[in-house]
Amino acid sequence: MRDLDVLVLGGGAAGLMCAIEAAKRGRKVLVIDHAKKPAEKIRISGGGRCNFTNIHCAPANFLSRNPRFCVSALKRYSQHDFLSLVEKHRIPWHEKTLGQLFCDDSARDIIRMLLDELEAAGSTLQLETEIRAVSKPDDRFSVATSKGPLRAHSLVVATGGPSIPKMGATGFGYELARQFGLEVIAPRAALVPLTFSDANKELCGRLSGVSVDAKVSFGKTAFREGLLFTHRGLSGPSILQISSYWQEGQPISVNLVPEADVFEVLRQARQETPKQELKTALGLLLPNRLAEELSGTFSLKGRLADQSDKVLRRAAEQLDRWQLTPVGTEGYRTAEVTLGGVDTRELSSKTMESSKVPGLYFIGEVVDVTGHLGGFNFQWAWSSGHAAGQFA
Ligand code: FDA
Repeated sequence: MRDLDVLVLGGGAAGLMCAIEAAKRGRKVLVIDHAKKPAEKIRISGGGRCNFTNIHCAPANFLSRNPRFCVSALKRYSQHDFLSLVEKHRIPWHEKTLGQLFCDDSARDIIRMLLDELEAAGSTLQLETEIRAVSKPDDRFSVATSKGPLRAHSLVVATGGPSIPKMGATGFGYELARQFGLEVIAPRAALVPLTFSDANKELCGRLSGVSVDAKVSFGKTAFREGLLFTHRGLSGPSILQISSYWQEGQPISVNLVPEADVFEVLRQARQETPKQELKTALGLLLPNRLAEELSGTFSLKGRLADQSDKVLRRAAEQLDRWQLTPVGTEGYRTAEVTLGGVDTRELSSKTMESSKVPGLYFIGEVVDVTGHLGGFNFQWAWSSGHAAGQFA
């Protein structure tokens, strides 16, 4: 039986950050993970370059049943604090777009940084360790693992959400929360491509590979970023962002030409080139393949000279407010994150500790706090991990 002050379940972004901070306080800390390698999601993130934070990170970039829950942790360990750590380790980085910070070379630099910090703080990471059972028979937690029993005063759950099961992701954290009587907000795949059926699916398939700058909305929420047609439906940053807000059975609205006044462009084209086909004129605004397909879908036919203002206005409206109802999402197989998770009402926003079970902490993606695309999810992992690390 190994006795510990702090046992961290999950050696991903949040778990490693928490272990570093707790060990710096002189606590005896062990991190266990069932995977062969640590922090696999960091390795594959940001196309291998890890979008490790966002310079504009603010509470408004997070979804949660309690939108205020993240405020304290984000304030106490901000994007600037994480950036200082990256700079201390001389990791070259750059800002890509919209405040997104990436490694110049490789996401592995971030993993190496965390493991170096972990070692320097005097904590260890034990991989390929299955968790068999967790209990709290007295004032300490007992954890049965494939590598023997462990006991700890504080147990930190940092096992993430079920997104991308082939990376070792599980819903273990939710089961553990329920075992200890904590509420879990129903999880759902987020930052995930949307799928379509019938004519829209076929249309997307024919346009597979075409991308445009678009403004995609659901209700009052809108994102202006890239949109990509795929064989299954729609993807790209604007679609991934809106997937976190989209509700089943309801349409999303796509503005395919957010930059220009479509009616004005078409009206001017009618004046200057009246013999031009309407679908050719759409090519002034959209990639040719898309213009061709949409002129069929929206029945935009004939020469410009023959189109009334009313017809041009209708065409503009169709391109500005294309209504599409997804049938679903690609699910956890490709989702970057999971919405929902351990109900924040169960946790202290200062320490991440459960109010029902003293010594039990939840951090990172397992908690009902989900960031927008763009480095926000890692920032939540760093901030919540740091918060728990001060108290566990
Ligand atoms: P995380 O999933 O990182 O770690 C959990 C750990 O627990 C894993 O090591 C896992 O093996 C372990 N574990 C799980 N179940 C276990 C069990 N039963 N027993 C033992 N161990 C267990 N975010 C961002 O901000 N910028 C980005 O660029 C990207 N890019 C990106 C790309 C892709 C493809 C994905 C899937 C996700 C992203 N993300 C992202 C999201 C980001 O990866 C995610 O929010 C964080 O990794 C969450 O950190 P956690 O530490 O909470 O969980």
